[in-house]
Amino acid sequence: MLELRALHKRMGARCLADGLSLKVDAGETVALLGASGSGKSTLLRMVAGLEPLDAGQVLFAGEDVTRQPPEKRRFALIFQDFALFPHLDVQENVCFGLVEQGWPKRLARTEAQAMLATVGLHGLEHRRVWTLSGGEQQRVALARALVTRPRLMLLDEPFSALDAELRSAMQDEFRQRLADAGIPALLVTHDPAEAARMAGRVVRLEGGRMRPV
Ligand SMILES: Nc1ncnc2c1ncn2[C@@H]1O[C@H](COP(=O)(O)OP(=O)(O)OP(=O)(O)O)[C@@H](O)[C@H]1O
Ligand SMILES: [Mg+2]
Repeated sequence: MLELRALHKRMGARCLADGLSLKVDAGETVALLGASGSGKSTLLRMVAGLEPLDAGQVLFAGEDVTRQPPEKRRFALIFQDFALFPHLDVQENVCFGLVEQGWPKRLARTEAQAMLATVGLHGLEHRRVWTLSGGEQQRVALARALVTRPRLMLLDEPFSALDAELRSAMQDEFRQRLADAGIPALLVTHDPAEAARMAGRVVRLEGGRMRPV
């Protein structure tokens, strides 16, 4: 489904990808471990189209998307700090991507409401996001990502801001939602237990290449 072919990327003096290759199959979640600074976040940004490659190709469903802008790829990226829009309420946060895709506002709202109900946030549509708990904010980020029906989910340490108990609950919930939606995912984490819990396969980024774990 997703195929990274011989990616090369330098950042200043550092070589973050040195002939890096990886495949993620349909419906599969692959966890990506690696030391701090090894280039995990940079790799997700390259896959999303937010960071240019020096060389190599990103393919999805057999199509070369290397030169496609992020919005054409239809991949969703969830950041460590959720990156919700603080000036928008919960529903508007979830609507945002749909409106950007050209959905009429009213339809986008209906769709957002349905997705919020799915992730257990019914009734919180008009709350400001900064009044929500960490777990609720995490669910808004998930709803915002899922509502656009992404072809691929890119998760950059999405649970690290949560306490231990909530973290394992959200790990199970994310795994279930991704499975229900049949969306392949690449999950960056520094926690081997999280990798084992969430993913069918675990790889490690080291010296600009993928090593099996
Ligand atoms: N825009 C940038 N300009 C210069 N250097 C950058 C830029 N983005 C990342 N880097 C550098 O590239 C290296 C890899 O960064 P990256 O954020 O991808 O690492 P990471 O594996 O996600 O680390 P962490 O586990 O700490 O999140 C770091 O040394 C970082 O300082
Ligand atoms: Mg990172």
